Order: sequence, then C-alpha cells, then structure tokens
Amino acid sequence: MLDEKNFTKYLNRHEIDAVVQSLANQINRDYDGKEVVLIVVLKGAIVFAADLARHLKINTEIEFVRLSSYGRAKTSSGTVTILKDIHADIRGKHLLILEEIIDSGRTLKFLYERLKGAGPASVEIVTLLDKTSKRVVDVPVKYVGRTIDDQFLVGYGLDLEEHCRNLPDVYYLKYPN
Ligand code: IMP
Ligand code: MG
Repeated sequence: MLDEKNFTKYLNRHEIDAVVQSLANQINRDYDGKEVVLIVVLKGAIVFAADLARHLKINTEIEFVRLSSYGRAKTSSGTVTILKDIHADIRGKHLLILEEIIDSGRTLKFLYERLKGAGPASVEIVTLLDKTSKRVVDVPVKYVGRTIDDQFLVGYGLDLEEHCRNLPDVYYLKYPN
C-alpha cells in the first residue's frame, strides 16, 4: 500500500510552508487585538494546526474535536457523529475551525452549525486545502490555503486508512484502490 510508485508529490514542504504562512498573515491581520479559540478537527488537521498556530501572533486557546463521517471508506458516507467534543466554554469567543481538507463539506457544515448554536462571538473556517468541485453542502469557508482538483491526497495529516499522516509533503495517489 505504501509503495512509493503509487505516490506522486503534489505539494512539497516549502510550498506548504508558504501557504500556511500566508493564512497566518491574513488571520493575524483580521484578528489583531482579539483572542481566538482554535478548534482543531482531529485527526487530520493536527499537523496543519501545529504549524499555523506557531505563526499566529494573537492570543489563542486550542481545543480539539473529533468527528466521523468516513469510517474507512474514501468517500463520505454523509453521516457525521461526534467522537470527541470540545470542553471549553465558547460563549462570546471568536472561534476558528482548523481543517486540513474539505470535500463534500458535510463534516464542516455539521461542526459549523453546532458551534454557532453555542453562542460564540464569531465562527470562521480555515482550511489548508479545498476540493471545491466536490462540494455537496454549502459551508462558508473564509480562509482557504489552496483550491485543489478532485484527487485523493495523503501526507501532512491526510491519511490513507490511518497511514501516511506523518509525511512532511502532500502526495496524490495514482491508484487509490
Ligand atoms: P467532507 O465532509 O466530505 O468535506 O470530508 C472532509 C474529511 O474527509 C476531511 O477532514 C478528511 O478527513 C477527509 N478527506 C477528504 N478528502 C481527503 C483526501 O483527499 N485525503 C484524505 N482525507 C480526505
Ligand atoms: Mg479530517
């Protein structure tokens, strides 16, 4: 499965760095003087979140949420369940949801609506990668690192059946099955 010939490099670590820095610059500018709660969507967003957070100059808290919509399948099942919830009181706070990739938008839509319902001052979505052509439900994504084609990607937090999240670069799979 992890045979190198099935992987083609899509974004190298330097390109990723530049995208992350640019997102951080926008957030630093937009939230200047404010405090934000980073809501990190486990597991895929951990690498991106760790890098982005270290470029932020604003005051932050970090919370984690784990949702499931995929199971072991490579396409969305459409049903979202909460596997791990946040514990902080988010009322009146500025929230930034950190996601590594958006496909159908179902996972983020669910989380976005749920967080909005908890009475925060604001909620915005930050994603490293966005497969806009795959969108099934409307979800407002304010900060997009890169818009990408419909390809199955791995590395930098993105997994293939739980493998490859630790790769420092992003690859696309030529033969995902
Ligand atoms: P959505 O609910 O269809 O938008 O699914 C988003 C989630 O699916 C992401 O958080 C990822 O965990 C996963 N996902 C979507 N596309 C890919 C991919 O190309 N590689 C790895 N995981 C992906
Ligand atoms: Mg994910």
